[in-house]
Amino acid sequence: MPTLSLFHFLSLVSLILYLLYFLRIIITAVTTTATTTAAATYGHKSYPFIGSLISFHQNSHRLIHWFTHLLSGSPSQTIVLRRLGRRKNQMIVTANPANVEHILKTNFENYPKGKPFTDLLGDFLGIGIFNVDGELWSTQRKLASHEFSTRSLREFTLSVVEELVTGRLVPLLEDAIENDGVLDMQDVLRRLAFDTICNISLGWDPCCLDYSRPVPPLAAAFDAAAEASAIRGIAPAYWVWKAKRLFNLGSERRLKAAVAIVHRSVNEIIQDRRQRQINGCDTRLDLLSRFISAGHGDELVRDMVISFLMAGRDTTSAAMTWLLWLLTWHPDVEKQILIELTAITNDHDNSNLDHSSYHRSLNFEDLKKTDYLKACLCESMRLYPPVVWDSKHAGNDDVLPDGTPVFKGNRVMYFPYGMGRMEALWGKDCLEFRPDRWFVEPGVLKMESPYKFPVFQSGPRVCLGKEMAFVQMKCVVGSILRRFELVPVCLDRPVFVPLLTAHMKGGFKVRVRRRN
Ligand code: HEM
Ligand SMILES: *[C@@H]1O[C@H](CO)[C@@H](O)[C@H](O)[C@H]1NC(C)=O
Repeated sequence: MPTLSLFHFLSLVSLILYLLYFLRIIITAVTTTATTTAAATYGHKSYPFIGSLISFHQNSHRLIHWFTHLLSGSPSQTIVLRRLGRRKNQMIVTANPANVEHILKTNFENYPKGKPFTDLLGDFLGIGIFNVDGELWSTQRKLASHEFSTRSLREFTLSVVEELVTGRLVPLLEDAIENDGVLDMQDVLRRLAFDTICNISLGWDPCCLDYSRPVPPLAAAFDAAAEASAIRGIAPAYWVWKAKRLFNLGSERRLKAAVAIVHRSVNEIIQDRRQRQINGCDTRLDLLSRFISAGHGDELVRDMVISFLMAGRDTTSAAMTWLLWLLTWHPDVEKQILIELTAITNDHDNSNLDHSSYHRSLNFEDLKKTDYLKACLCESMRLYPPVVWDSKHAGNDDVLPDGTPVFKGNRVMYFPYGMGRMEALWGKDCLEFRPDRWFVEPGVLKMESPYKFPVFQSGPRVCLGKEMAFVQMKCVVGSILRRFELVPVCLDRPVFVPLLTAHMKGGFKVRVRRRN
């Protein structure tokens, strides 16, 4: 009897919660209008009140395009989304470099990620660098910045990438030629990125690129946890997912299970490593050994490496997928990349008698010289940034450089996707893929302001893995292009989906040909 009444009680509570949930969606839609500030007087004059409501509703599934449209019509590239009468709840979206610099650097202290945001990933990422503010963040940042500035980590990274490229990626693509098979390059690159970041962070091999093996539990749990955390982000109100968590329902139940697996697996790896260090047989160069040696406790070490897995996983693969797709439509650009690579390796080979093959892998010095390939990666990420948007929460009232007032608690978002598509920033041809725009003159790369191009964020919290990501992406893309030609199976323009990290809807299916 008591179980029955408990069951009834719970059903009633969840019914009420769901009713409130839908009511909230409706209220949000009805009271949210895109309004403008005194400074940014771009307006909805032409849109009567009801017009905004309809467009908000129509656009809720294509927010990135709607925001981009509104921002390019705003004289200072900033919009304010306001729930009527509630300043504290307003959200500011900006594509204005001066505002971005203010938020990310000049007034950094006033713009932490904030609790509403860190709560979303909190159960998954714990107190790891990616998801904390203040002291907790700055101590980890110092330690990690130090490690990332070492030559030993850079060289180690390249050796990991090289080995995975020659040992796994190239054979996989060669098999595809033999079998005339279709490969989903997005999936291949994601698996490669996960194998890479697991080796660099954990010194552990998930063998994801080996399609004949089942996906290891840690990898599957990682995906599940990331997805369930993202679901929290789209709940229309904070308490909705909190209630789901309280009652262990749906995605919250999946999240809890997935996080338990991630924690258990990582803890085992940590214990094993500690044992090796005690026995004096740990010569590893990965992040795990470095963090343990710095004397941190198990929980912090665990959360730190999880943050790195999270940050370094889908970002590089997303960037490479879009570049490879763009190149199939821009053979002239592809040819230019090949000319650059050939020039660099030929140079090198003259001084190196041991050159057994033209397909010698690219070393660190070679990769530094690949300016054109770097320009192509930047140009591709300008149009298809792996992290589409990123939000902070204002600690106190403030005014942005363009005059937009900010109130304590406001969500303030900078929006790399929209910024890459602003005519005001990149000119009339802003929607075209044109790597040449990254050069001042042939051979001389332009130094773009990181506040105009905040694809890696910028300021004190700039992506720690930026250089590592470029090394990895140059090496992988260069190695693929020198050996293979990718022929897309489908000629339609793919759909860009902005989740936690962006991806290509349905994958990037190709046939592989040997390049002559
Ligand atoms: C193309 C590839 C990449 C892009 C576009 C990218 C972009 C970003 C962005 C936008 C942020 C800020 C996110 C936020 O604060 O919410 C970030 C932070 C971070 N990234 Fe990356 N990232 C890339 C690759 C990597 C790689 C390969 C690693 C690691 C090895 C990495 C490590 C990190 C870390 C640790 C942070 C947190 C830094 C902090 O909060 O102090 N990233 N990245
Ligand atoms: C990580 O990569 C290095 C360098 O290629 C390799 O020697 C090592 O075996 C890899 N570690 C694991 C666990 O796969």
